[in-house]
Amino acid sequence: MNDVQGNSSEPSVMRIGVLGCGNVGAALVDLVRTQADTVEQRTGIRLEVARVAVRNMSAPRDVEIDDGILTRDASAVVNDASIDLVVEAIGGIEPARGLILDALKNGKPVITANKELLANCGAELYAAAELAERDLLFEAAVAGGIPIMRALRESLHGEPITRVIGIINGTTNFILTKMTDAVLAGGAGDYAATLAEAQALGYAERDPTADVEGYDAGAKAAIIATVAFGVKVVAGDVYHEGISRVSGAEISIADRLGYCIKLLGIIEREPESGDVSVRVHPTMVPKQHPLASVRDSYNAVFVEGGFVGSLMFFGRGAGGAPTASAVFGDVVDAAINLRRGTHGSLGDLHEARVLAIDETSAEYLLSLDVADQPGVLHAVTGVFASHNVSIRAAEQEGNGPDARLVFITHSAQEAAVQATVRELGTLDVVRNVGGLIRVIGD
Ligand code: NDP
Ligand code: HSE
Repeated sequence: MNDVQGNSSEPSVMRIGVLGCGNVGAALVDLVRTQADTVEQRTGIRLEVARVAVRNMSAPRDVEIDDGILTRDASAVVNDASIDLVVEAIGGIEPARGLILDALKNGKPVITANKELLANCGAELYAAAELAERDLLFEAAVAGGIPIMRALRESLHGEPITRVIGIINGTTNFILTKMTDAVLAGGAGDYAATLAEAQALGYAERDPTADVEGYDAGAKAAIIATVAFGVKVVAGDVYHEGISRVSGAEISIADRLGYCIKLLGIIEREPESGDVSVRVHPTMVPKQHPLASVRDSYNAVFVEGGFVGSLMFFGRGAGGAPTASAVFGDVVDAAINLRRGTHGSLGDLHEARVLAIDETSAEYLLSLDVADQPGVLHAVTGVFASHNVSIRAAEQEGNGPDARLVFITHSAQEAAVQATVRELGTLDVVRNVGGLIRVIGD
């Protein structure tokens, strides 16, 4: 190993092996070069990008990489004794998982931005880091440039956190913002057209499924649950519903009632039982809630704690430079820890019951296209009552063939609300049961 013990007056040189040189890897290489002098002045550690592993040696890169640094052999990088720490910016499960395990086994701290990997194999990787007594840091994996992992791991370590709610996918926030703007300007706010616009502008992938159907946000929600509550939650535990069924009509109803619609990750723990609920779905957010002001592709994470009250973290959740900024912060931390012979830890992760969506409770918005005739409201509200779902607000919009009843419930259990929806659909006077959207309070 290089002089990482900090015993000499010479700077400790830390040689970084970067796996992947795409959006994040290239921005990280650039940032290390830009900030190396500053970091050296502050810490006495000289950071150097020593190896960069890629898949295609001849692909054009956003940064210049000297001959001899670029390699196609990522495995050689993690097994190179002259490499002090490793940044994994490849993505996906394999080979990233195997490379990280090998790097840790070889005593190298690892920094990763890989939410998919952590949300599926996190427990195995955290245990490997613990065994190796090395850092495994992943600030960039959740909400890109926003330092929410460090806040949860360190600043809020002792806080009795009750709930974390976040706009943790920029693509969907961009699409919902544009749909809302269109509706408020008197347009249709059509989902498919807005998605196409987002794709043309580079905000959505050609295959947008991971973002628009909530998989990406679900992975991030699983990681937040793990770090906030110290429990084992994997991507498969997370209920996720995307934005592809959100309509301009629903956005318009929400607006009239004082709400906007956001795709939220909601991570909660019941204080008594310790059960956790982790879900991602379109949600009606009161316009006065701080999350309602988070527009375009920005992300924000809202943390609620028993002592600290409410905190909001806001910023860029994606993009090479913001994500590399979070990776770089971890690199500096890991380098300092390595020199001191220490490492951070998530502590013991406990098993916890993750509630099924049926067992969770919320307020709900429900809209029904109905026949405009005597007794309809009575018939409809009777169904709510028979399932013990209490109505907080009700109104009729439109008349005759355009009659629509809109309800907001008090907090009710999902299973009861779903049963209500099913039975409402069987009533002759109900032509269509519109979107069911969960609502969060102020
Ligand atoms: P890219 O697809 O842009 O880059 C991936 C890089 O990995 C490429 O340089 C590719 O090489 C390289 N690579 C792929 N397979 C191998 C392999 N077997 N061996 C060596 N190199 C390989 O991805 P991003 O930079 O966008 O994302 C990287 C990680 O960061 C992912 O986990 C992602 O989820 C995460 N992340 C990304 C954000 C973003 O805004 N982009 C935000 C937050 C997290 P080549 O260039 O030759 O094809
Ligand atoms: N595709 C993600 C987003 C960024 O739209 O927020 C990477 O997590």
